[in-house]
Amino acid sequence: MSLIRKAIFPVAGLGTRFLPATKAQPKEMLPVVDKPLIQYAVEEAYAAGIRQMIFVNGRNKRAIPDHFDTAYELESELVAAGKHELLSLVHSIKPDDMECIYIRQPKALGLGHAVLCAQCVVVDEPFAVLLADDLMVGSPPVLEQMVEQFADWHASILAVQEVSDQDTQRYGIVAGTPVDARMMDLTHIVEKPKPEDAPSRLGVAGRYILTPGVFREIANQPRGVGGEVQLTDGIASLMRREKVFAFRYEGRRFDCGSKEGFLEANVELALAHPQLGASFRAYLRGLPL
Ligand code: UTP
Repeated sequence: MSLIRKAIFPVAGLGTRFLPATKAQPKEMLPVVDKPLIQYAVEEAYAAGIRQMIFVNGRNKRAIPDHFDTAYELESELVAAGKHELLSLVHSIKPDDMECIYIRQPKALGLGHAVLCAQCVVVDEPFAVLLADDLMVGSPPVLEQMVEQFADWHASILAVQEVSDQDTQRYGIVAGTPVDARMMDLTHIVEKPKPEDAPSRLGVAGRYILTPGVFREIANQPRGVGGEVQLTDGIASLMRREKVFAFRYEGRRFDCGSKEGFLEANVELALAHPQLGASFRAYLRGLPL
């Protein structure tokens, strides 16, 4: 059994960067090629051995529970039409040994607040947090790489990557002491600093393994940047009590919460798609760019 059994998917954000597409539907249901973002994230957690998926939902997010629910009408139509391949594709969205739990975040008070909403289900064990709008492509998958690190360090681990000077204001930025080629023992974490105030160029991507001590720290935080309860501030206080590590993962990240990142993900994953890749490449080559 995996050392990490539970994953939180905060999906209650307003998705303002992706309006109008996100006015009435969650951004986590936007499809990249043929799968919604949330399904990529759930598959990544499942591949890391996690079986309990906890979704922190807000308004307009009904499509997410529906996506992981049984679709009787659709299934009986597929059976009647003898479309068995499509039937097993639909079944594979929620394997039998996977449990989905839904919690409501009554107001979008920030990522830290969303994570705190799941405390009643996580209680006192280490857990993962996946932000589905960060689509990660890695082999092994990024969260699996992090669970492997957790087995060695038994402490909170944040996925990080290099960001450019102008992008420090979009990320939590960390600094610390390297303990090996990929792991760093953290001494600093700051939410969305200006480049001149940033302690490094290492930004936190949307994958975390956290110890349950973080709940108490988040609960004690005042509102931070943007008037929101920031997960980063909770982690900064956790660092005063426990070790927290940053992990330079192997793989690619697409920021699908932004229109550019979403388009890039669609192009690159379409090119890598076993059925669509070759014809899509030929189509792109024929474009008058
Ligand atoms: P973002 O910072 O991307 O915010 O949240 P957002 O509201 O979703 O999108 P923009 O910036 O307005 O376009 C990061 C993650 O935290 C979740 C979001 O759903 C996203 O997965 N979140 C954020 C919550 O669940 N609750 C919140 O109150 C805020």
